[in-house]
Amino acid sequence: MLRVQGLGCTYTSDRQRVVALRDVSFELRQAERLAIVGESGAGKSTLLRCLNLLVRPTHGSVEVDGQVLTSLGHKELTLARHHIGMIFQHFALLHRRTIRENVALPLELAGVPRAKISQRVDSLLERVRLLDKADAYPAQLSGGQRQRVGIARALAHSPRVLLCDEPTSALDAETARHVVALLDELSKELNLTLVFVTHQLELVRALADVVAVLDGGALSELTPITQFLAQPRSAAGRRLLTPEAQMKLPHHLVDEARRHAGVGPSTLLTFAISSTDATSTIFQMLFRYPQLHVDVVGANIESTRGHSTGSLSLLVHGAPAVIQEAIAAFEQQTIPVEVVGHVRSAA
Ligand SMILES: Nc1ncnc2c1ncn2[C@@H]1O[C@H](COP(=O)(O)OP(=O)(O)O)[C@@H](O)[C@H]1O
Ligand SMILES: [Mg+2]
Repeated sequence: MLRVQGLGCTYTSDRQRVVALRDVSFELRQAERLAIVGESGAGKSTLLRCLNLLVRPTHGSVEVDGQVLTSLGHKELTLARHHIGMIFQHFALLHRRTIRENVALPLELAGVPRAKISQRVDSLLERVRLLDKADAYPAQLSGGQRQRVGIARALAHSPRVLLCDEPTSALDAETARHVVALLDELSKELNLTLVFVTHQLELVRALADVVAVLDGGALSELTPITQFLAQPRSAAGRRLLTPEAQMKLPHHLVDEARRHAGVGPSTLLTFAISSTDATSTIFQMLFRYPQLHVDVVGANIESTRGHSTGSLSLLVHGAPAVIQEAIAAFEQQTIPVEVVGHVRSAA
């Protein structure tokens, strides 16, 4: 239902040309859910905006339900866009309009009769469970509620495709989970084809059927979710799944450690945690080396049904020989540890 062929996008200003997308092609079926991931500047937002021609691609075509958007005139494109809803990281609500008026806007612009608009808006607000806030203003709502208004507005024309740019990045973890649950529920109920950009692996896990990895504007892989989580095909995909990336360790620390292989006076270690007592075992082992100083620089541990899994990163300071001895002790205890490398200056 969504077919993208040879999509390219170059931004041109007075002096500069930025090639943001290079020859991107993929297809999605109705109700399929695609996550677009990649490092900052990889072209994710550009790709998403090219799908509804919010940004005009410089090459290639976008086809939705057999209609080639890239060859439509202005009027036809406006109509075709009704089939494509969009939500934004910072919600993009109009502050001088009430919630009801925000959701009504796309319908007003399309010239839908007043009585019909009011009915439709009520049912949309009910759907996102905000009917009681209909006459409030965006400033009176929490972040999660504002994003729900954004979702209601995006659904105004009963679209077949919903585009989401970092829909939960501006929300705290708990609120984000509610918004994800709502997107999950609505996309299934309404049979929506969902395309979302995110840097949050949680969102990918929760919603994606397929993962597209962008790297320097090019599609480096397009992989079904289970296969992606088990073993990404591309180097860019693997980078996104490294424990360090998931723990959001400071980039400079990881980069420096990766440049200096082996053990030094400050060594970055990453432990794979696969049982509930793993972390206490690690610390008990480390306490046997009082000469070592340890900073916890990152942890990402999840407990599900009494079982802990994840990873733990420690920056261990001391004599390299002692650090080496401790690492050997971990290995003897079959505690999985990776020596990421060492850094010269402490974190
Ligand atoms: N409106 C614009 N004008 C010029 N360059 C842009 C514009 N928008 C994005 N870019 C550039 O295009 C590249 C891709 O940007 P973007 O699609 O926003 O990436 P992402 O969403 O993955 O962070 C970046 O180098 C960015 O600086
Ligand atoms: Mg972006």
